Amino acid sequence: MTGLLRLPMLSWLARRYVGGSGLLDLSNVSRLPDSVLWPLKRTGLDPVDELGRWREHQPVGRLPVPLGIRAWLVTGHEEVRSVLGSVDAFSNDFGNLAGSAGVTAQHNPGGLGFADPPVHTRLRRLLTPEFTMRRLSRLAPRITAIVAEQLDAMAATSGPVDLWQAFALPIPSLTICELLGVPYADRADFQQLSTARFDMAVDTTSSLGAMSQSVAYLLDLVGRQRKSPGDGLLGSLIREHGDAIDDLELAGLADGVLTGGLETSASMLALGSLVLMDNPATAEALRAGEAVDPFVEELLRYLTVVQVAFPRFATRDVTVGGVDIAAGDAVVCSLSGANRDGSLGTGMDRFDPGRAAGSHLAFGYGIHRCVGAELARMELRAAYPALVRRFPGMRLAGDPADLRFRDASIVYGVEALPVLLNGAG
Ligand code: HEM
Repeated sequence: MTGLLRLPMLSWLARRYVGGSGLLDLSNVSRLPDSVLWPLKRTGLDPVDELGRWREHQPVGRLPVPLGIRAWLVTGHEEVRSVLGSVDAFSNDFGNLAGSAGVTAQHNPGGLGFADPPVHTRLRRLLTPEFTMRRLSRLAPRITAIVAEQLDAMAATSGPVDLWQAFALPIPSLTICELLGVPYADRADFQQLSTARFDMAVDTTSSLGAMSQSVAYLLDLVGRQRKSPGDGLLGSLIREHGDAIDDLELAGLADGVLTGGLETSASMLALGSLVLMDNPATAEALRAGEAVDPFVEELLRYLTVVQVAFPRFATRDVTVGGVDIAAGDAVVCSLSGANRDGSLGTGMDRFDPGRAAGSHLAFGYGIHRCVGAELARMELRAAYPALVRRFPGMRLAGDPADLRFRDASIVYGVEALPVLLNGAG
C-alpha cells in the first residue's frame, strides 16, 4: 500500500471536488505518495513530530508532489496568515491545475471554497446574512433540544455506546437540517444520507453514491422550497434572492454548508469528548459551570480538525516568509502546524484550557474563513457541558490504544468512540 492514497483521503477529495459541473476525475491526483501525505498524519491527537521540526527549520518548504505540480507546505502561523490573507497573490480556483495532473478547466469543482472573487464575493454575500449572530440565535434553543434528545437516547441504551454515531454525528446533522429548513418528515432519511457519505468504513463508491443521492435530495428540496419557501436558509435565500440564483447553485450552496459543517463539527465533538475523558479536572470545571468559551477555543486550536486549508495557487511571483514562490505553484497551508507555532505562546503542543487561544487558525483566515464558525461554536458550547453533566462517570469502553483514528485524512477524526456512560463495568 505504501505510496498509494488511503481511502479517507480519496473520499474527502472526492467529496470536496464535487460541484455543479460534475465529478472531478481524481484518478491521477489520488495517487499521492507518503512523501506528500505526511503532514496529515498524527500520533493520537498530535501532529507528527516532523511537522514541528519542519515549522522550526522551514516554515515555507518545498513538498515533493508528483504529476508535475510544484508545491509548497506552509507551517508557520505568520506565514499561513500571509498566504490565506493575500487574495491578490493566491487563487482557490482548481482550474489552476489545468494542464497538469490531467485536470481540465471544466473539472472546476465550483462552490464557495474553490471560487475566487468576484464569484466568491457574490456567493458569500448570499450566505453571510444567514450566519449573523441574530439569525443564528433562533437556532440556539433547537441546538439545546437536539443535544438533550441525543443524550436521552444514549441514556436509554444499555452497554457501551458509540459516541461518534450517537452524539458527534447527529448533533451537527440535525443542526444543519434546522439551518437549511429540511422538513421534519425528511429528517431521518436526510440524516442517514448525509452521514452515509462520511462513513469511512464503506468503500469510496458507496460513499460517492450516498453523496450524489444527497445532492439529488437537496435539488429536490430546492424545487419544493421554490414553490413554498420555508423559514430556513434555503427558504430565505429563495425569498430574498430567488431570481438571482438558480436551483443548481442553491443546491451547491446547501451542499457546501453540509460538507463544510457536518464532518468538521462531528470530529470536534468526538475528539473533544476524548480530551474531556482524559482531563477530569476540565470536565469537572465544565460541570461546575465554569466558562465554556475559552475551553472550546483551546480545543479548536489544539485539535485543529481541518488539518490543511484548501490548496491555494500563486497567481504571480510572490515572497512568503522570505521564500520565493513562483506564479502557478500550489501552496498547502498546514493549520495544525500554524496553531502550534511557538509565536502564539509557550507549550503549544499541550492542551491547556487556561490559556487564551483566541488567535488560532482552526477556522482559517481571510476571505474564505469559515462562514459557519459561530454556528460551530454554538454547537460545541452547548454539547460538551451537557455531555459531562449528564454522564459524569463516562469513560472509554476499551483500551485507548485500540482507538482507530483516520489515517492521512484532511479532516482528522476517530472512526468510532465506544464509551461506558456510567463508568461502571
Ligand atoms: C468546528 C467546526 C468547523 C471547522 C473546524 C471548520 C473549518 C473551516 C476552515 C478551516 C475553513 C477555511 C478553509 C480554507 O480557507 O481553505 C472553512 C470554510 C468553510 N466552512 Fe467551516 N468549519 C467548521 C464548521 C462549519 C459549519 C458548521 C459550517 C456551516 C454550517 C461551515 C461551512 C463552511 C463553508 C461554507 C466554508 C467555505 C467558506 C468560503 O470559502 O468562503 N463550517 N471551515
